[in-house]
Amino acid sequence: MSRRFPKGFLWGCATAAYQIEGAPAADGKGPSIWDRYAHTPGMMANGDTGDIACDHYHRFREDIALMQQLGMRAYRFSLSWARILPEGTGRINAAGLQFYSDLIDELLAHGIEPMVTLFHWDLPAALDDQGGWLNRGSADWFADYARVAFGAFDGRVKKWITINEPWVVSDGGYLRGTIAPGHRNRFEAPIASHNLMRAHGAAVKAYRETGRHEIGLAVNIEPKYATSATPEDMAAAHRASAYMNEQYLDPALLGRYPLPLREIFGPAWPDWPEADFDLIRQPLDFLGINYYTRAVVRHDAADDLLRAMPVRQPGALYTETNWEVFPQGLTDTLLWIRQRYGDIPLYITENGAAFPDPPAATHGQVHDPQRVDYLRTHLLALHEAIAKGVDVRGYMAWSFMDNLEWSLGYAKRFGLVHVNFETQARTPKDSARFYSQVIASHGECLGESPDTT
Ligand code: BGC
Repeated sequence: MSRRFPKGFLWGCATAAYQIEGAPAADGKGPSIWDRYAHTPGMMANGDTGDIACDHYHRFREDIALMQQLGMRAYRFSLSWARILPEGTGRINAAGLQFYSDLIDELLAHGIEPMVTLFHWDLPAALDDQGGWLNRGSADWFADYARVAFGAFDGRVKKWITINEPWVVSDGGYLRGTIAPGHRNRFEAPIASHNLMRAHGAAVKAYRETGRHEIGLAVNIEPKYATSATPEDMAAAHRASAYMNEQYLDPALLGRYPLPLREIFGPAWPDWPEADFDLIRQPLDFLGINYYTRAVVRHDAADDLLRAMPVRQPGALYTETNWEVFPQGLTDTLLWIRQRYGDIPLYITENGAAFPDPPAATHGQVHDPQRVDYLRTHLLALHEAIAKGVDVRGYMAWSFMDNLEWSLGYAKRFGLVHVNFETQARTPKDSARFYSQVIASHGECLGESPDTT
C-alpha cells in the first residue's frame, strides 16, 4: 500500500518560546510565570532554568538554516507574550515584536511556513499578580495581546493557534502544581480551564475582526481505554477522558461541558453563565492535535478525583517520560474526533518522544533508533487515519531540537536535533535524517524496510 501523503500535506516541526529562547530579560522583555517558577528552589529538576535554553533568541538564523537543510516546510513556534507586552497588557515592547518579525521573515526567506501559537504556558508574571487565569479579565487580556500579534504578523503568518494544551495548564499549573504557576487547588482548576477557553474564544472572535487566514486551538488528546469491559472500569475510562479530552473540545466545538465533570469536581465545579459558551464556541478553521500516548485505566475508589488508576501495560515500550508507545492511539484519536465533532480540518501539532540518547559523538552522529521507530510507527498510524478519510493536513514533529522539558529540565530530550547545552552545538540525530527522507518522499519511504541507518 502506498504511504504517500495527500498533496499539499504540511510537514514541519514544533517548539515553544520558553523551552528554547533563553534571553529572559533581553531588549525589554518582562518576566513570565516560568521565569519565576524556574527560579523557585525545588521546582525544577537539577535546578535547570530557561535562562539560556537553546539560546535560540540569538541563534534563530542558524536554527532556521538547519530546518531548511532538513527539508522542513513549516515551523510551529510560540510567541512570548511578555516579550511583546512586558506587563501583559498596555505598553507594547517594539523590540519584542521586532524579534518575532525577524524570525518570521527569516522563515519565509527559507521557504518555511510559520505556524504561530499565541500562548504556550508563559503567562506574563504581571498578570499572574492579578490572579492569572483565575481572573475572568484574562480573556480580555489575551484578546488584546492577540490583536497586537495579528496586527503585526497576519499576512506573513497564515496559521494561528490560540492556546496550547489548556488541560496541561489547568491540571499541571492549578491542580497538581507540577508546572507554573504551581498551585495545588481543586477549586481553582475548573476556573482556570474555563477562563483559558474563554480566552481562546475571545482571541478567535478578535481574529475575525481583521484576520485573513486560519486560526485554531491545540489540545493534547490522550485516549483512555478501560482495562476491562466491566461497567466500573468503563466508567473510569469515561471519566478520565471527560477530564482530559472532552473538557476542552466539548466547549470549543459543542458549546457545553461533558456531564462527568460535575461528578469529578463535586462541590468544586461552578455553574457557568450560559453566555460564556457563546464566547467559547467560535467557528474554528482547524484543530491542532498533540498526541504522545494513551492510558489504560481501571476503577480505583482510592483516587479522589477521577476514581481511575492508570495501569502499566506489560511488554509495552515506555519512553523516558514513562509514556507508553502506542501508535494505534493516534489513529483511534483521529477517528474519534471525526465521529464526535465532525469533519473539522486537523493538524498534528505535536508528536514525539524522549528517549535516552547517546551523547553526540565527535563524528557528528547521534543514533536514536527508538525515536526513528516512534516517528515511523506514528506516521503510519496517521496515514491510516487519512486513508480512512480523516482530514489531516499537516504534521509537526515535537521537537525541532532538544530543549527545556519544563520542570523536568534538560535531561529529557525530545529533539530531532541534538543540542549540546554547554557549547550550543546542534547535531541532527538519525531521526532528523529519517524525517527528512519522509518529507522528501511525501511519506513514500515509510512503506520501505525499517532500516534507516
Ligand atoms: C507540550 C510541550 C512539551 C511536550 C512533551 C506537550 O505537552 O506542549 O511543550 O515539551 O508535550 O512533554
